[in-house]
Amino acid sequence: MIIKICRMSQTSPVSKVVYYGCKEKRDDNQGGIRMKRKVVSILAAGVVAAGMLAGCGSASNTAATSKESTSTAATEATAAADTSAAESQENSQADSQADEAGSTGGGKLVGVAMPTKDLQRWNQDGTNMEAQLKKAGYEVDIQYANNDVATQVSQVENMISNGCEVLVIASIDGESLGTPLGQAKEAGIPVISYDRLLMNSDAVSYYATFDNYKVGTKQGEYIEEKLDLKNADGPFNLEIFTGDPGDNNANFFYNGAMDVLKPYIDSGKLVVPSGQIDFATVATANWSTETAQNRMDTIISGNYADGANKLDAVLCSNDSTALGVENALEAAGMAEWPIITGQDCDIANVKNLIAGKQSMSVFKDTRELANQAVKMVDAIMQGKEAEVNDTKSYDNGTGVIPTFLCDPIVTTMDNYKELLIDSGYYSEDDLK
Ligand code: BGC
Repeated sequence: MIIKICRMSQTSPVSKVVYYGCKEKRDDNQGGIRMKRKVVSILAAGVVAAGMLAGCGSASNTAATSKESTSTAATEATAAADTSAAESQENSQADSQADEAGSTGGGKLVGVAMPTKDLQRWNQDGTNMEAQLKKAGYEVDIQYANNDVATQVSQVENMISNGCEVLVIASIDGESLGTPLGQAKEAGIPVISYDRLLMNSDAVSYYATFDNYKVGTKQGEYIEEKLDLKNADGPFNLEIFTGDPGDNNANFFYNGAMDVLKPYIDSGKLVVPSGQIDFATVATANWSTETAQNRMDTIISGNYADGANKLDAVLCSNDSTALGVENALEAAGMAEWPIITGQDCDIANVKNLIAGKQSMSVFKDTRELANQAVKMVDAIMQGKEAEVNDTKSYDNGTGVIPTFLCDPIVTTMDNYKELLIDSGYYSEDDLK
């Protein structure tokens, strides 16, 4: 049958969707998940119209080439230690959320592919997913790929041949899983994109993530507010660090922040002494702390040494890049800490927040994301439509993927206790 797919700019934010045309496409998977996607879209549009959108943070809502990991052993050790410190809290939270999902799995096998254990958040995501799926009665095959694309490709292929009935995938590089995704589609195995969108594949049924554009906007607005850019004369000095170019989220973070900050750069109120502004130049392969640190070392020696310039703010798209920037600033013995943004509330970064080295992070409650993804698995397994709240922002190149967006929350010294400790995400000891 022929279906009509309206496509949008891939990086368009929710509020700035630009339609650039519709195409007709033959849908060979009649009655399959692709059809379901269209139905879901229509249903969800009704929900949107009824004004029922809400973030999942609220209680009411329920080139396949090898890409080397550049993380240092020290980073791995920190991530592992931070993870084990947080794991006991996660497990108990996971238990109660899995109860919500119900015990519906019937022992069916779900494949969960995670990018790496090197960064703290993916350990938490994986732990939460596994616990919540098991609690709901599923068998789980969970694999981490050490940020190596070829490893992830073969892990997903194995999940398919081992009889997984649904795949939940947080990719390393969104473009690189075309072959196994094609195999999944052939085998009739639905795929859920987890946190990061799988690009250019029509095998993807749903996407569960946080509002990525909003994350970037909040980081940009934080800098705007703290430097009082609307009123102050400036000029202020800014440097910019974003994430891995193969991660579609990095575009959203960068665009969200730059939509706030770029006008000030254009007017000269914000100056970037390194001259490094465009996405490709400020991207950080694998979101590596070490790579960010090396780049910041070079920026400092070239532009800020001996008080040549005062660094006022560093836009960092996430905590692993922020950590690299903070390490470089510390090593250079900078007299005054600039405003530094981040994302994820990794333990090392919350410690730096408390120590006055990092100004803010963005809390993305991985328990809630796992909860939404498990609900999607459940719905698919029961032949139902999964709950989504965004049907226009995430076009993966084959059409818009029905998405559930969770709500990211700005975290500072003022609210970290409430968000992270009172909610049981971390214990006070984790942050000492
Ligand atoms: C996630 C961020 C994370 C980054 C590095 C992104 O895809 O959305 O939360 O900081 O990957 O792991």
